[in-house]
Amino acid sequence: MSQINIADPKGRLGVLLPGLGAVSTTFIAGVEAVKKGIARPIGSLTQMGTIRLGKRTEKRVPKIKDFVPLANLDQLVFGGWDIFFDNGYESALKAGVLEKGLIDQVRPELEKVKPMSAAFSQKYVKNLTGENLKNAKTKWDLAQQLIDDIKKFKTENKCDRLVMVWCGSTEIFLKQTAAHATIESFEKAMKENDAAIAPSMLYAYAAIKSGIPYANGAPNLTVDIPALVDLARINNVPIGGKDFKTGQTLMKTILAPGLKARLLGLKGWFSTNILGNRDGEVLDDPDSFKTKEESKLSVLEYILQPDLYPELYHKFYHKVRINYYPPRGDNKEGWDNLDIFGWLGYPMQIKVDFLCRDSILAAPIVLDLVLFLDLAARSGMKGIQEWLSFYFKSPMHAPEIYPEHDIFIQLMKLKNTLRYLQGEDLITHLGLEYYD
Ligand SMILES: NC(=O)c1ccc[n+]([C@@H]2O[C@H](COP(=O)([O-])OP(=O)(O)OC[C@H]3O[C@@H](n4cnc5c(N)ncnc54)[C@H](O)[C@@H]3O)[C@@H](O)[C@H]2O)c1
Repeated sequence: MSQINIADPKGRLGVLLPGLGAVSTTFIAGVEAVKKGIARPIGSLTQMGTIRLGKRTEKRVPKIKDFVPLANLDQLVFGGWDIFFDNGYESALKAGVLEKGLIDQVRPELEKVKPMSAAFSQKYVKNLTGENLKNAKTKWDLAQQLIDDIKKFKTENKCDRLVMVWCGSTEIFLKQTAAHATIESFEKAMKENDAAIAPSMLYAYAAIKSGIPYANGAPNLTVDIPALVDLARINNVPIGGKDFKTGQTLMKTILAPGLKARLLGLKGWFSTNILGNRDGEVLDDPDSFKTKEESKLSVLEYILQPDLYPELYHKFYHKVRINYYPPRGDNKEGWDNLDIFGWLGYPMQIKVDFLCRDSILAAPIVLDLVLFLDLAARSGMKGIQEWLSFYFKSPMHAPEIYPEHDIFIQLMKLKNTLRYLQGEDLITHLGLEYYD
C-alpha cells in the first residue's frame, strides 16, 4: 500500500477551547506537568499507545507517536473562551479536580490562559450566569467576533495551525430544523437570530470558516448538522463529536460488547450517577439533561443490535439518571445494575460501582483529539472523522450508516486508519497459517 502524503507538524499548534472549566484546565495542567516531567500522560493513546505492524512474527510494535507524525507537547499553545473571567489557574483551583500542589507547579503556564469573552446565552445553559460575554446585535455578528478572536490568537501566539475542541457546558436539547439544513439556511438563521442556532454552533462555524479542525466534547447538536458537515467538507476541515466517552458510558461500551460476544441476554440495565461539579449543576436542568440522556441511551441499542438478536435483547429496559450532589465535586460515582440471563434463560446480575474522576478520564481524550485532528488536517482528511469514534459517546457518522459504539471495533478502526496513512497492511486477524 502506498503512503499518504502528510505535511510535517512543524511550528506551533494552537489549541482553542471554548469553555475553560474542569476538563480544559485538567487537560492544560496535565500537558504542562507532563512537559516538566512531574507526571505521566496516562490514558492517552497518542502518548503511551503502541501499534502492531505486519505479522506478529515481525515484532514491529512502535509507539503511535513514533509511527505517525504528530505534533509534540512542546509545540502546543493554549487559549480559550469562558463566561467567567477566571484564568486557567483560578479555574483549575475552583474545579477542584487536581491537588493544589500540582496546580501550583504549573501556575505560570495556567495563568497565561486568560479566557476571551464568550458567545453565550442563558437560554441554552439555564443554570449558569457569567459576565465575560460578547455583545452583538445578531448571532452572525457574534460568529464574526469569534473569527476575529481566532485570527488574533493565531498572530499573537505565532501559531502555524490551530485546533478547536468544545469543552463548554452541555446546552439544552435541540432538534435539527430547516435552519440547519444548508450552509445558506444556517447563515440566514444566524443573521435572523433564529433560536435554532445555539452558541456552540457559532464557535463551530467560526472554526470551520477559519479552516480549523473542530471536535465537540459535549452532547450538543453543534456540528452534527448538514450545514456544518457540508461546510467542513467544502473547507477541507476534519470534524468530530459528540460527547467525550468517559465514566459510565466508557464502562458500558467495554461491558456490552463482552456480553454480546458470549451471547448473554439482557433484561435491564439501570445506571445512576451522582456528581457535584459545575457540569453536574448544569445537568440538573432537565433541558440540558435531556441532551446528555439521549447521548447516553443510544449506546446499548447499537452495540447489542436487538433486531439481529431478538431472543437476547428485545426490549431490554435501559434507564440513565444523573443527580447533582455537591459534596462529591468532580469525583463522580456511577452505579450500574445489569439483569442478564444465560444458558436456558437462567438469570444473573452484575453490579458496577465506578468511583471515577470525570475530568481525569476526559483530559487525555482532549489531548488525543487535538493531535489526531491536526494529523487528519495535515493528511488532507476532511468532514466527519469516524476513526475518532473511539473518543465519543455519540459518534458522528454519515447519514446512511449507523454509528459504531463497540470500543474494541472503534480502536481497530482507529489503528487501521493510522496504518493506512503510513502505507502499512491493515490488520485483519485472519490466521492463514492453518493452510500452510
Ligand atoms: N468526563 C467529563 O468530564 C465529560 C465527559 C463527557 C462530556 N463532558 C462535557 O464536557 C463539557 C465540559 O465539562 P466540564 O466538566 O469541564 O464542565 P465545566 O462546567 O467545569 O466547564 C464548562 C465551562 O464552559 C463554560 N461555558 C458554557 N457555555 C459557554 C460558551 N457558550 N462559551 C464559552 N464558555 C462557555 C462554563 O462557564 C464552564 O466554565 C460539558 O459539556 C460536559 O458535559 C465532560
